[in-house]
Amino acid sequence: MMHHRIFPRNICSLAGFILVLILATAKSITISRPPLLPGQHCCPVNESLFWKKKVHGLNSAASKQLEPFLSYEFLLPQLQLMAGLKYPSSAKRLRKFVSNLMTGDRPLKVGIVGGSISWGQGTTAHGVRDWFSIFMTWLASVSRVPVIGRNGCIPGTPSFYMVLCWEHSVDPDVDLILVEYVFNDGVDDRIKNNGAVRWVEQLVRRLMALPGRPAVVLVQVPHVHLTYFDPFFRTSEDLEGAVAAYYDVPTVSLRDALYPLNVHRPTEGFLWAQTYNEHHPGDAGHKALADLAVHLTQETVLGLLSYPPSRDEAEKVEGPLPPPMYSGNLPPSSSVCVVGFNFTSLVVTAEGWEWTNEGTPEKPKWGYVATEPGSQLVLQLTKRLAVEGAEALDGASTIADGSASIKGSTFPVLLHYLQSYVGMGTARVECGGECECTGVNVDALHAGRSSQTYMAAVMVTWINQTLDCELQITVLDKSRDVEGGHKFKVSGLVIAFGYDAAAVASVGKWHLPSDD
Ligand SMILES: *[C@@H]1O[C@H](CO)[C@@H](O)[C@H](O)[C@H]1NC(C)=O
Ligand SMILES: *[C@@H]1O[C@H](CO)[C@@H](O)[C@H](O)[C@H]1NC(C)=O
Ligand SMILES: *[C@@H]1O[C@H](CO)[C@@H](O)[C@H](O)[C@H]1NC(C)=O
Repeated sequence: MMHHRIFPRNICSLAGFILVLILATAKSITISRPPLLPGQHCCPVNESLFWKKKVHGLNSAASKQLEPFLSYEFLLPQLQLMAGLKYPSSAKRLRKFVSNLMTGDRPLKVGIVGGSISWGQGTTAHGVRDWFSIFMTWLASVSRVPVIGRNGCIPGTPSFYMVLCWEHSVDPDVDLILVEYVFNDGVDDRIKNNGAVRWVEQLVRRLMALPGRPAVVLVQVPHVHLTYFDPFFRTSEDLEGAVAAYYDVPTVSLRDALYPLNVHRPTEGFLWAQTYNEHHPGDAGHKALADLAVHLTQETVLGLLSYPPSRDEAEKVEGPLPPPMYSGNLPPSSSVCVVGFNFTSLVVTAEGWEWTNEGTPEKPKWGYVATEPGSQLVLQLTKRLAVEGAEALDGASTIADGSASIKGSTFPVLLHYLQSYVGMGTARVECGGECECTGVNVDALHAGRSSQTYMAAVMVTWINQTLDCELQITVLDKSRDVEGGHKFKVSGLVIAFGYDAAAVASVGKWHLPSDD
């Protein structure tokens, strides 16, 4: 009986010890930042740390082919460069891209999708010192044919935005596309049906299926903040490793490269305060990201010289995509995304609403804004549905009840609206014309102290497709704001054909974290 009393107590103290251990290791770690003088940048690139790769053991023909690619000067130490090559994969598509780069058969297109980090926020020269620009400048310098880059990043967006609105950011015939969303997608630690992983899977599928059959590369960044950084594991990056492995997509990781230089053996020049502004990397952080992309490309050249593509590889590179890793996790069969100036073409009535840019010319934030109850915005969907959705609608009708002659068609409409923390009100979203939906009240007051674009979803049924389909947004005389404000802002709309109610429910939480 003694045994029984002592044993549970030991278990308790052991559990307590483990709990303390978990709490201790799970704690965020503080970043100490020296105060900066006005105009001083956190993170200048220290060129005296630069070095170039040397490769030994190649015959002279291979050396000659490799030589131009080794011209690049790295900032990251060699071992961290190697550590940052998170997952090389068989890289079939990347090998094809790099083969084309080496032979110079045809001009190549490179794209990037992501949030504000890869857009270039945090650098001292957007378009010059951001990592995509550094990478593109180097690619152009080693290629015999033009290599064109397009930065399609949209600050404050998660991967799901790009699943639905990629056509505004990516050329369909792109040859290589880089994907950077692990910070903006936030942290979700479920293994099964992980939200962040779901979205990234849909995005990877959507991109891999483009006509250019592009190589896709995941670019993972650490969760660094102004005053602290997250524990190593507090990220969806490792769970997204499943998507990378499943689709055979190479991955580089700035977390894997920099974390040891901050925690295991703190190293001057690579500390968070010397590489990161806040959650955006500064010039040195961008240089390190570019280093990883160049390293991946150089290693791919080396791989091609050592193991030239076989006929089997050439056949497999054209193969179809496997079924989704998460069962049924397909992007919408076709979607129409109307954002920016084109959104104004949907508007038939805008009583009390003004089309206005609340951002800057360089980083615009356009939308319709109303501040008075009763203001009504009427959006006419008919033309978009008729022109771009005709095929998709037929498809949807057939799926819905097995016959093509069904009376109505049902599809989700996702309205982009701003949630913010001051002066915000509530609006009613409902259908008009020959379209029906269950209307929703949408409260634009955000719980936290930030401004984010959210998505309000309604399932719309178009009763008679020869008549008009409308969406109406009306500001209500209802507000939780302390000042009783009624501001409401609408900035875009997605018609997501081929998505069902369950897929929309998972999107309901969708938001675009904004930078202010
Ligand atoms: C740059 O790196 C060199 C070599 O480690 C070091 O001696 C120097 O202090 C660094 N310069 C700055 C401005 O940090
Ligand atoms: C606006 O719509 C037109 C016609 O559908 C399209 O050609 C154009 O690319 C769109 N512009 C933008 C910025 O999306
Ligand atoms: C749709 O509306 C048109 C025009 O009012 C009408 O002629 C037609 O019969 C309607 N179709 C259906 C299926 O209700």
